[in-house]
Amino acid sequence: MATEIYYFSGTGNSLAIARDLAEKTNGKLISLASVVDKGPIRTDADVIGIVFPTYYEPYGGVPLIVRRFVLKLENIDSKYIFAICTYGSVSVNALKLLDEILRSHGGRLAAGFTVNMPYNMGGSSLNSPEKQQKMFRVWEENMDVIYEHINARREVRFDTPNVLAGKIYSLIQFIVAPLIFLFKPVTRRCLKQYYNLNNGSYVEMLPNMDRSFYTNDNCAGCGTCARICPVKDIELVDERPEWQHKCEFCLACFHWCPQEAIQSSELENTIRYHHPDVKVSDMLNQD
Ligand SMILES: Cc1cc2nc3c(=O)[nH]c(=O)nc-3n(C[C@H](O)[C@H](O)[C@H](O)COP(=O)(O)O)c2cc1C
Repeated sequence: MATEIYYFSGTGNSLAIARDLAEKTNGKLISLASVVDKGPIRTDADVIGIVFPTYYEPYGGVPLIVRRFVLKLENIDSKYIFAICTYGSVSVNALKLLDEILRSHGGRLAAGFTVNMPYNMGGSSLNSPEKQQKMFRVWEENMDVIYEHINARREVRFDTPNVLAGKIYSLIQFIVAPLIFLFKPVTRRCLKQYYNLNNGSYVEMLPNMDRSFYTNDNCAGCGTCARICPVKDIELVDERPEWQHKCEFCLACFHWCPQEAIQSSELENTIRYHHPDVKVSDMLNQD
């Protein structure tokens, strides 16, 4: 039984999880950014895993690049497809949307798992070292259960316990799920300021979020941002990054800049973070 695990990751949470599972399943670990723009994706694997972060839950939670990737997959009707969606505060829609996209394309999501990880758009209250350690522990404790589900090719939905809400998380989901749409206008307003089109859709607006980035005087022109960007959105001009407006807003450039020189008006309270077991060199292998 051949397994392929595709991942997308800006700060390493999803990569760390994908890597753990690839090891356990003897699967092949593949960056989906490395294949998404190279034509149709054909695979002989009978098990396909997709690991990605939740982005903008009110808009479905699935990063645009993951949506593009799924639509490039070919002959998926008989495959066992599972997904793991990492999230920082709440993720109730992403797996459902992913399933809908897969179904529109002849496949379906057999198993879906959400895993609580440090919130890479968060301030210090969400991301204390103790909370981070607890999230990593919860993942380690639950990894075998998830692996067993996958190995037995079960049809399953599974949430790892949310560190903030503890065991009542599944109850909270029922309350949060309808309310989450209240945040849609707020998110839309935030996105719209970067794209000057009255009827601009989420799909049009998100790539322009990079207009919020700028560098301060700490920038040493090292080019880490350009090399680490999974969608090659950054060009260096006079040793300074210039964003090309095909951004996923994964924040890799912001979080991995060794000088912390990259700033964004959207991230004023965000503390710099990356998964402790993921190195810059691991991230550079995404293309
Ligand atoms: C643009 C953006 C939007 C996000 N939106 C959400 C969200 O709606 N809900 C949530 O729980 N986490 C959200 N997050 C947090 C990430 O899903 C979470 O930190 C994830 O584990 C990051 O994974 P990575 O390290 O693999 O990039 C968002 C992060 C980014 C960068």
